[in-house]
Amino acid sequence: MKTVTFVTQKGGSGKSSLAANLAVAAEQAGERVFLLDLDRQGTLARWIDRRTAETPGFDTIASESQLDAALATLAQQHFTVAILDTAGTDSPLVTAAIRVADLCLVPARPTPADLEATQPTLSAIQATRRRFAFVLSQAPVRSGRLGEAAAGLRMLGVLAEPPIAQRNDHQDALGAGQGVTEFNPGGKAAEEIRSLWGWIATKLKQKA
Ligand SMILES: Nc1ncnc2c1ncn2[C@@H]1O[C@H](COP(=O)(O)OP(=O)(O)O)[C@@H](O)[C@H]1O
Ligand SMILES: [Mg+2]
Repeated sequence: MKTVTFVTQKGGSGKSSLAANLAVAAEQAGERVFLLDLDRQGTLARWIDRRTAETPGFDTIASESQLDAALATLAQQHFTVAILDTAGTDSPLVTAAIRVADLCLVPARPTPADLEATQPTLSAIQATRRRFAFVLSQAPVRSGRLGEAAAGLRMLGVLAEPPIAQRNDHQDALGAGQGVTEFNPGGKAAEEIRSLWGWIATKLKQKA
């Protein structure tokens, strides 16, 4: 089982939205996916409540020992991917979520404030020597900023591809308890999320 952790201290950067959408896209690509919500705000718990589909599996996690136990159980149950959503704070639980990750994904909107705000998260990831990539999220559809932001992130480390644009499908799908690839499979948001899952899946197959 591979573990993917969404982490950044900046709230509203798209962690929960990406976790839900990629969980669905990974299922559609044939993975057995379990979502673990480590954030007390419960964005994913409410999304799961609105969902009619039985999958992905879902649970909330409140402590480091609970996290280790849950991952061991999921691996035994032959889940192939665990996706962890974390709170936008620095805490021992978030550090544990970084520690257990095969890949940490750091979402950031392409604004100077959001990019600056990734610095403490990056330091925490580098301290554990985990692999990581940035994901540009909520990118304005037409803006020169994306190019600048992408170039900046490529210099700092790895940038996952493609950037995820700001699109209504993301908000509408989440409100409907779906991923964008279920809500509007032919839309651009769905296409971007499927491609991003493809990028992540390739990364997970590579040796660290
Ligand atoms: N690509 C996107 N396009 C439009 N809205 C988005 C997109 N990604 C996230 N959002 C919205 O932005 C808000 C914050 O996203 P969220 O995933 O909750 O961030 P975080 O979990 O990092 O705090 C939510 O209202 C979400 O629906
Ligand atoms: Mg969240």
